Amino acid sequence: MLVLRSVHVHHGHLHVLKGVDLHVGEGEIVAIVGANGAGKSTLLGTIAGVYAPTEGEILFEHKPLPYGKVEHIVDKGICLVPERRQIFDSLSVKDHLLLGAYRRQRRDRQEVKRDYERVLGLFPKLQTMLDRPGGLLSGGEQQMLAIARGLMARPKLLLLDEPSLGLAPLVVKEVMGMLRGLCDQFHTAMILVEQNVRAALQTADYAYVLERGAIVLHGKAAELLADERVAEAYLGAADRR
Ligand SMILES: Nc1ncnc2c1ncn2[C@@H]1O[C@H](COP(=O)(O)OP(=O)(O)OP(=O)(O)O)[C@@H](O)[C@H]1O
Ligand SMILES: [Mg+2]
Repeated sequence: MLVLRSVHVHHGHLHVLKGVDLHVGEGEIVAIVGANGAGKSTLLGTIAGVYAPTEGEILFEHKPLPYGKVEHIVDKGICLVPERRQIFDSLSVKDHLLLGAYRRQRRDRQEVKRDYERVLGLFPKLQTMLDRPGGLLSGGEQQMLAIARGLMARPKLLLLDEPSLGLAPLVVKEVMGMLRGLCDQFHTAMILVEQNVRAALQTADYAYVLERGAIVLHGKAAELLADERVAEAYLGAADRR
């Protein structure tokens, strides 16, 4: 459903992505792993329409993505759950969820209501704290809220930027453990960007390793998990986190 062909992205003079090829199939979870500054967030931001490629092309459902307007890309069915979650301190849990559906609110109010119930069914913890301001939630709860808010946009492709960041190992397990079920229930594919390489490879179907803006390795996630080069470069570091 998503194809990137030789995508280059510059931030000013900085050449950040250097010819990235990537493929995501229907319902698939694809992990992108790599060190700090490799260009992972830039890659997700480019797919979400925040940055435009300077070269190369991105096709979503066989058509070029409309660049320049993030909202148009949300309407196409691509939704970004950004790094550090961007939860508003004083906005309630309920309002965060409704905000996730803001592009659809006017068009299909009934459907938004149904999705709201469905999302809460999947995140029973959030159900108990609907009036609580976002700033009072724990890190794990905030991450769940950010994902739930993303699902409210009814994406066909959900982009998650480092969902495990700052979470205790048990909470990482809880959040990662939910992702497959969410994809199945909402019929969505997912790109999972992670520095927690082990958790990402255990969760994904397919994975890409990004180093200094280029894909250096890709394959089935289970195969990369067993790959010595990945173990040497990344798994030791992930264990220390
Ligand atoms: N909006 C921006 N303007 C200018 N430079 C940027 C911008 N965003 C990122 N960069 C630079 O691009 C490079 C890649 O950054 P990016 O955030 O994509 O990496 P990352 O792999 O997500 O890193 P991390 O793991 O730390 O989140 C870095 O050198 C960064 O300083
Ligand atoms: Mg990043």
